[in-house]
Amino acid sequence: MERKLTQEQSKVEVKGFEAKYYDLLMNVISFGTYPFFIRKAIKSIGLKEGESVLDFGAGTGRNDCLMLKYIGERGKITGLEIGEEMSEKFKKNCDYPNVELLNKRIDEPIGIENEYDTVFISFVLHGFIQERREKIIDNAYKALKENGKFAILDYNEFDPEKSFFIAKYAIKKIECPLAEDFVKRDWKAILKEKGFRSFKEFYFYKKYVRLLIAYK
Ligand SMILES: C[S@@+](CC[C@H](N)C(=O)[O-])C[C@H]1O[C@@H](n2cnc3c(N)ncnc32)[C@H](O)[C@@H]1O
Repeated sequence: MERKLTQEQSKVEVKGFEAKYYDLLMNVISFGTYPFFIRKAIKSIGLKEGESVLDFGAGTGRNDCLMLKYIGERGKITGLEIGEEMSEKFKKNCDYPNVELLNKRIDEPIGIENEYDTVFISFVLHGFIQERREKIIDNAYKALKENGKFAILDYNEFDPEKSFFIAKYAIKKIECPLAEDFVKRDWKAILKEKGFRSFKEFYFYKKYVRLLIAYK
């Protein structure tokens, strides 16, 4: 019988050593490819000058600094983040007048409606039980303006049993069990049920990572 997944099994709340060296760790475990990958992924979102971005689980602010290049001084970024150490890093790394960081949980009502052109969530959604993922999706939908984009950068859908051994090992042994559950779901069907109407997809790392853009 399959055991019920619980939020306590998640590794998504980054703290301690991992928080202190988060960006460096990403560079190391990706054999130095992360900086190139993340630049390409963020470029693929298609952000435009003057647009607003809400970043769910913003982390160290690395992604936000990259997004600033596209939205410019007239644009605006709001990061939502609960990790104390990650928030400290964010404030140091991404200190600009048009960037703000709010200490808000993304899996509870955030009280933001029809305000942002893009909601971005990078390597966060997989770390929640499905019930909370759905709350996060509802929050994103509400926060977006009409025609806004929900840009989800995370693992793609795949069957770990039939995958390349490194992907299988990473999902089954390094990541939490919630990630294995995440990769087995049909995300476009779930997002359609939540009201999103069309999609664009970009793939990275032999298609084990996907940027899925869902349009409101
Ligand atoms: C794996 S890290 C990804 C950080 C960043 N998005 C990136 O791609 O570099 C996950 C982040 O989500 C934050 N987080 C976890 N649960 C959260 C929650 N319920 N609300 C807001 N942030 C959360 C963590 O503190 C951490 O900074």
